[in-house]
Amino acid sequence: MPNLTGKIAIVTGAGRGIGRAHALALAAAGANVVVNDLGGSLAGEGADLTPAQQVVEEIRAAGGEAVADGENVADFAGAGRLVQHAVDEFGRLDILVNNAGILRDRMLVNMTEDEWDAVINVHLKGHFAPTQHAAASWRERSKAGEEVRARVINTSSPSGVFGNVGQANYGAAKAGIAAFTLIVAQELGRYGVTVNCVAPNARTRMTEDTFDMGEAPEGHDPLDPSNISTVVVALSADEAQGITGQVFHIWGSAVNALRGWSSGELFESEEPWQADALLTQLRERWPEGVAPRGMVESMQAVGGRSLSTK
Ligand SMILES: NC(=O)c1ccc[n+]([C@@H]2O[C@H](COP(=O)([O-])OP(=O)(O)OC[C@H]3O[C@@H](n4cnc5c(N)ncnc54)[C@H](O)[C@@H]3O)[C@@H](O)[C@H]2O)c1
Repeated sequence: MPNLTGKIAIVTGAGRGIGRAHALALAAAGANVVVNDLGGSLAGEGADLTPAQQVVEEIRAAGGEAVADGENVADFAGAGRLVQHAVDEFGRLDILVNNAGILRDRMLVNMTEDEWDAVINVHLKGHFAPTQHAAASWRERSKAGEEVRARVINTSSPSGVFGNVGQANYGAAKAGIAAFTLIVAQELGRYGVTVNCVAPNARTRMTEDTFDMGEAPEGHDPLDPSNISTVVVALSADEAQGITGQVFHIWGSAVNALRGWSSGELFESEEPWQADALLTQLRERWPEGVAPRGMVESMQAVGGRSLSTK
């Protein structure tokens, strides 16, 4: 395992599920961890520090160092206090894992404004806000002459990169997080910060009700959240300094560095296109029409396996 002794990490949404696994894995590798979690319901209602405190106790019982934090990552000032919490408690911040998330699934025709706003807010703003505050502190350290080796690891989703029915709000936020990763990786490289992203598959309260996940098998479970944490620990190592701007789809031990939007199919004309000529070309290329194939089939194409919906 890479040695992260002395590194200071924040994991958002670390009271449960995948975030909890990240916090335990980073601590086991030697990092001091700020375990952030608002502690609300899957839909993002309510607040409770207990889940974060329980993870802190688990880390301490295993001989690690951790502190609980109950800030809401979608509150810009709260995200600033979260980053400051790491600095006050442990002296600085090295690793930011943006993981907190909620779900409010609904078909678009029935989706309410609140369902849209809440999901976009927690995921998209909840990635921007902690990253902005962390980036400001890393730029300051870099400009003061320090050789910074910092990490941001974001959390997208197969829903965001492949598109899943019933998740227009969530998938749009998660696609935005993949794009945010590409842009911020380019902006923060100059300060010694790498920015990567995971697109997980894991057995948590978020997926158990929606997908047919089966029972956890004996031995290696490809849907154990710890599979995602292995990638987070690897990307957090000093030796990963050259790896940035990547989005990793993870199914068990299948880790795919995704290649997203590509040049695709070209429709070219010597002259400026006339709409009717372009339409003729489109119909000739796709005589049966064309449509996205959906998340489950796309996941099979990359990971070799995939979830099926209940
Ligand atoms: N489980 C999967 O297969 C899967 C697939 C794709 C993406 N993801 C993503 O992985 C991340 C973790 O999901 P999970 O499956 O572990 O779900 P989870 O519900 O078990 O954990 C999410 C945690 O985030 C916390 N949280 C929610 N809003 C918050 C806020 N505003 N501030 C701070 N904490 C907040 C919750 O309290 C919860 O403990 C999410 O971003 C999710 O969208 C999960």
